[in-house]
Amino acid sequence: MSDRQVVLVTGASVGLGLAIARRLLHEQRKQNLHLVLTARAGSLHRFGEQGIVERDDVWIRPLDITDAEQRVCIVNEIASTLGGVDVLINNAGVVYRSCVEHVTEPERLHQMNINFRSPIELTRCVLPGMRQKRRGKIINISSVGGMMAMPTMSVYSASKFALEGASEALYYEVKPWNVSVTLVQPGFMRSDAFEKVPYTTLSADASDDHQNPYHEHYHHMEQFIAKAMHRALATPDSVALKVIRVMRRRSPPLRVYGSLDAVLFSALRRVLPRRFYNWFLYRNLPHVRRWGKR
Ligand SMILES: NC(=O)c1ccc[n+]([C@@H]2O[C@H](COP(=O)([O-])OP(=O)(O)OC[C@H]3O[C@@H](n4cnc5c(N)ncnc54)[C@H](OP(=O)(O)O)[C@@H]3O)[C@@H](O)[C@H]2O)c1
Repeated sequence: MSDRQVVLVTGASVGLGLAIARRLLHEQRKQNLHLVLTARAGSLHRFGEQGIVERDDVWIRPLDITDAEQRVCIVNEIASTLGGVDVLINNAGVVYRSCVEHVTEPERLHQMNINFRSPIELTRCVLPGMRQKRRGKIINISSVGGMMAMPTMSVYSASKFALEGASEALYYEVKPWNVSVTLVQPGFMRSDAFEKVPYTTLSADASDDHQNPYHEHYHHMEQFIAKAMHRALATPDSVALKVIRVMRRRSPPLRVYGSLDAVLFSALRRVLPRRFYNWFLYRNLPHVRRWGKR
């Protein structure tokens, strides 16, 4: 069996995905890797802008993970030309900022589609090949939002909790074929990703309208998250390094913390008695005494 590993990355043209792509390109000097870097068709130009160009062992392909035809097409092309995917890195994801009351059904389904349903569908496409070869690695980029929920992040947390649950079940299901499943859980990453966070129609209105009952929720959470991301020790590159380390391990664990704050949040959740944990978190929400005054 060839020692070459075929690595497929989603959402690789920006943010954490781009940092993973860069690390993988560097890793190619040490390991025999064939990279398939993907992005939505409209974002492909970013690779060239970043100096990442297609060559024999680096493919650049369009992939909207929500498009079933594109998912099947890319996995088939890799199977017929390269013998299948050895490592799948499900990185693409979006973060809607919204309270539960402000997410409509289509918006909820859209968020779940990108962060949960589509990565699982893509995983389903690559699994038969991995089982046949009796080797493979699925690396799903989760989040601290997949271990604890924060106000105004309800639907994001729902999508990452769902990804965590399905990945945990899959970990046991495919272990007999030597296929590993790992959830990388970053906390806050120092980046400007928060500036791109979309609001739902209703949460955008509430965030702008000072008279809206939820205005303080959005206002203070937005400032808190922006500050946390500016001050975060973790960067997309430091999280990307964790992903590379998972790839290098013969038998990676189910969960890997992506940053120090993820270790801390996880410890809080495990160590504190449940009631105290929820009370503690609530009391420490930014300016929570002003919430709900309108
Ligand atoms: N930023 C953080 O602090 C943080 C913390 C914890 C976890 N994470 C997770 O890390 C991952 C990457 O996030 P990031 O911070 O790098 O965010 P980002 O800079 O906003 O990048 C998101 C990526 O997902 C892609 N994407 C969105 N919808 C897609 C679709 N339908 N099909 C294919 N690609 C799609 C985007 O492509 P386009 O450029 O084409 O839109 C982009 O490449 C996500 O799973 C996120 O949940 C991030």
